[in-house]
Formats: sequence, C-alpha cells, structure tokens
Amino acid sequence: MTRSNSVKDYIRTIVDFPHEGIMFRDVTTLFADPRGFRMAIDQLLHPYAGLQIDKVVGLEARGFILGGAIAHQLTVGFVPVRKKGKLPGTTISEEYQLEYGEAVVEIHDDAIQPGERILIVDDLLATGGTAEAGIKLVERLGGEIVGCAFVVDLPELGGRKHIEALGMDVHALCA
Ligand code: PRP
Ligand code: ADE
Repeated sequence: MTRSNSVKDYIRTIVDFPHEGIMFRDVTTLFADPRGFRMAIDQLLHPYAGLQIDKVVGLEARGFILGGAIAHQLTVGFVPVRKKGKLPGTTISEEYQLEYGEAVVEIHDDAIQPGERILIVDDLLATGGTAEAGIKLVERLGGEIVGCAFVVDLPELGGRKHIEALGMDVHALCA
C-alpha cells in the first residue's frame, strides 16, 4: 500500500492508452487504496466546507465513484450524467468533443430542480469538453453550479481555462 500524503502518488500513467500518444491517467490505483481514496474525497470537498450543496452531479464513469462518495459524505443526492442511451427516463442531451473522439451525454430531465445548488465531479479535466457538456445539462435544468471538482487537471489541454471562462469555479487536486 502507498503511504504518501499526496494524491498524485496514488495515480499511475499508462502510455498509449486507449490510443497511441495518449498518456492515460489511471485513477483505479487511487480508488483501490483506502488511504488514497479517503484523502481524495476529503480534499475534493475541502473548498466547499460551509457552502450549501443540494446535489452532486457525477460524470460517467469515474465521476460516479467519486461523486457517490462525496454525496454520501454531504448527505445529499447523487445525479449521474451518462453517455447516450443509458438512462431509462426522459433525458436532455449535449454533444461534445473529447481528447480522443466525440460523444453525447445525457441527464434525466427531472433530476435537478430550478435553483438547486450543484457540485459537479469527475476524475479528470483534459480538454474540458465533458465538463462543459455536464455544466450545460445542469444549467438547462436550472441548477446553480457551486463548483466543478476534479482529481486530475491536465493543464496543457486547456480544460481549466475553458471551464473557468464559462464562469465556473474549478478545483483540482493535482496536475
Ligand atoms: C475521461 C475522464 C473525463 C473526460 C475528460 O472520461 O473521466 O470524464 O475523459 O476529458 P475532456 O476534459 O477532454 O472532456 P472518458 O471520456 O474516457 O469516459 P469514461 O470515464 O466513461 O471511460
Ligand atoms: N480523458 C481524457 N484524457 C485522459 C487522460 N489523458 N487520462 C485519463 N482520462 C482521460
């Protein structure tokens, strides 16, 4: 078991996954470590202490693991933003570009009530396309976004600047 106090030390990089040229930040090693996982959840929550948060929105797929733990810690509900075709109820959708490809994400149209204060959570911010799509979905339902929290920010891909330019508060634990 890793004994480091730095979340970054629990994350490994897999070269050329899922395509040549991609340095894939693998957070499964962080999630698998009890100390690392708790540290990540505590640190993700730290800036929001004392702020009202009504729901946590997690972005598929690793945002579900983090967002579920954070929602439990806050004793609030969890709402998934899922890849197209996975949610059973009535949805709204957003198309977006990825570091490697493009996709569509959806949210149930009754998952957020107007005025609810939302924390958006994912494992990683790369180009910001996924987070932007999540933000748009939440805002279309009338949610007020308190912040967007990530374990990893890859600054060279410009995601933070892009999301901050949308007026969002971005919190990331490591680069
Ligand atoms: C990864 C990651 C983020 C997204 C970040 O998910 O978990 O959701 O990419 O990239 P972006 O900032 O360029 O949008 P991925 O699309 O690999 O989906 P998965 O978690 O379902 O495997
Ligand atoms: N999503 C987009 N880029 C990624 C990367 N380099 N590592 C992990 N997930 C990603």
